[in-house]
Amino acid sequence: MTPDKFISIEGITKRFPAPGGGTTTVFEDLWLSLKRGEFTCIIGHSGCGKTTVLNILAGLDVPTEGAVIVDGQAIEGPSIDRAVIFQSHALLPWRTVMGNVVYAVSSKWSRWSKADQQKQAQKFIDLVGLTGAEHKRPAELSGGMKQRVGIARALSIEPKIMLMDEPFSALDALTRGTLQDEVRRICVETGQTVFMITHDVDEAIYLADRIVMMSNGPDAVFAEIVENPLPKDRKRTDFHKHPLYYGVRNHIIDFLVTRSKIFAAEVQGGAFDKRHVPVVRPGVPVAVAASTAPATPPMPGLQRSSVASG
Ligand SMILES: Nc1ncnc2c1ncn2[C@@H]1O[C@H](COP(=O)(O)OP(=O)(O)OP(=O)(O)O)[C@@H](O)[C@H]1O
Ligand SMILES: [Mg+2]
Repeated sequence: MTPDKFISIEGITKRFPAPGGGTTTVFEDLWLSLKRGEFTCIIGHSGCGKTTVLNILAGLDVPTEGAVIVDGQAIEGPSIDRAVIFQSHALLPWRTVMGNVVYAVSSKWSRWSKADQQKQAQKFIDLVGLTGAEHKRPAELSGGMKQRVGIARALSIEPKIMLMDEPFSALDALTRGTLQDEVRRICVETGQTVFMITHDVDEAIYLADRIVMMSNGPDAVFAEIVENPLPKDRKRTDFHKHPLYYGVRNHIIDFLVTRSKIFAAEVQGGAFDKRHVPVVRPGVPVAVAASTAPATPPMPGLQRSSVASG
């Protein structure tokens, strides 16, 4: 395994039974590899198959064909190594904040003393800013606080991968911003590997190192990987003032509005190489971008963003 292939999605296909008989192919033969410590966001239209990919990464669903390799091992069901944060927080209502986080810690480190389990839980309760709310039950918490408990619970087991399905979408703008800051800080500090689904372009540009663009289904593909050219130490308060910000944003929006639709024809015509997803760095001069791009030529109808949206 190379460091570039901490997570390796290898030719996965997902088909569901179609209502009138036969099957519907959500996606077919998808390939993607993710590096250790990398924050990856995936963006695509509703129904293209993002959650299905995430559930396969979590081991909660199985691909019809293909496999996912994590840290050299094929995924065969859910694992404590991979924590999932859903849009609905799914807390145990009869347990306190501390109880919910300790429950996760004890499922990973069952032989630890209760005091050690509580110490580990407290560390992550503090990290997400819930100090003082340890003894509250979910019914006594706001939506944002519940989501923080979900994040603390996921981080407390120190997973190899954090999988997040639109974790902030149900929150008000202020809470969302604060939680984005906390998640980003914790992930940068701990070198956490993250795979996150979002519909929010700015959220992806703020959080992600790489943004995977998924085309419309059926037969959706990972159409493009946008490498975030903004500096790693970007701040939520000023990343939109960076000279490269509008180039990246426009590139992603252009994909969602226009280009995501044209892939179906390219895929059907066999013109798209699913094994070598084009990598682009919008706004970065060609010479720099070329060194990070794969050796495959640009697909017809797909301009390298380094050229297209400077
Ligand atoms: N259990 C299932 N049985 C049949 N079809 C399913 C099942 N689960 C998902 N699908 C279909 O697979 C497709 C992809 O669903 P998925 O939930 O992965 O989309 P998504 O990209 O996460 O969408 P959204 O952005 O709305 O959450 C959809 O067309 C959906 O109807
Ligand atoms: Mg979804």
